[in-house]
Amino acid sequence: MKIDVLTLFPEMFNSVFDHSIIKRAIDKNIVSVHYHNIRDFSNDKHNRVDDYPFGGGPGMVMKPGPIFRAIESIKTSDSKVIYVSPKGKVFNQAKASELSEREHLIILCGHYEGIDQRIIDEYVDEVVSIGDYVLTGGEIPAMVLIDSVSRLLPGVLSSEESYKQESHYNGLLEHPQYTRPREFNGIQVPEILLSGNHQKIEEWRNSESIKLTESVRPDLIKKKR
Ligand code: ADE
Repeated sequence: MKIDVLTLFPEMFNSVFDHSIIKRAIDKNIVSVHYHNIRDFSNDKHNRVDDYPFGGGPGMVMKPGPIFRAIESIKTSDSKVIYVSPKGKVFNQAKASELSEREHLIILCGHYEGIDQRIIDEYVDEVVSIGDYVLTGGEIPAMVLIDSVSRLLPGVLSSEESYKQESHYNGLLEHPQYTRPREFNGIQVPEILLSGNHQKIEEWRNSESIKLTESVRPDLIKKKR
């Protein structure tokens, strides 16, 4: 998979994908991530990328020209253009899984009061929010998308790291996990996990997973019904 990021702050991505699982995916050429500075596509002599909003109001709006030229310079017939914004549909595991099937993602990061609506209407395929809160820009949301999508690509996670066991894969939160020592500060690991009875352990995990989901995310249980 190829991911192109259009941003005013490409340096923000330095080091984030230089570690651990995503670094391994990049080194194995399972995913390649490229950063493009939207400012490089400005053709104004001061390299301006924003301007006052028509109709007045606070803040600045990102101009359509530089973003349009940036998209056009990398877009192919296989590309999906995603704009990350709090005004989008809320991202979830199902969306991560759907995006992981694509060959080429272009992720557009906004700043200031957002971008000119004509870009969204004509050149963006999908607007995605990472949650109901507002960040200062689209870079962190773009990192969230890249991380969550890349780890689903075949060959990125080893079988021990498999996402099939984890929270949200089956619409529930994952059961609790324990490791050694058996007793920590006087607190014991649940006896059932030491029993060696795999069927009973599976039943226990499943019931813990349902209990936890009912308690902290009843909305997920409702969605499953
Ligand atoms: N940009 C600012 N806040 C955001 C959010 N919650 N999701 C996606 N992009 C954003």
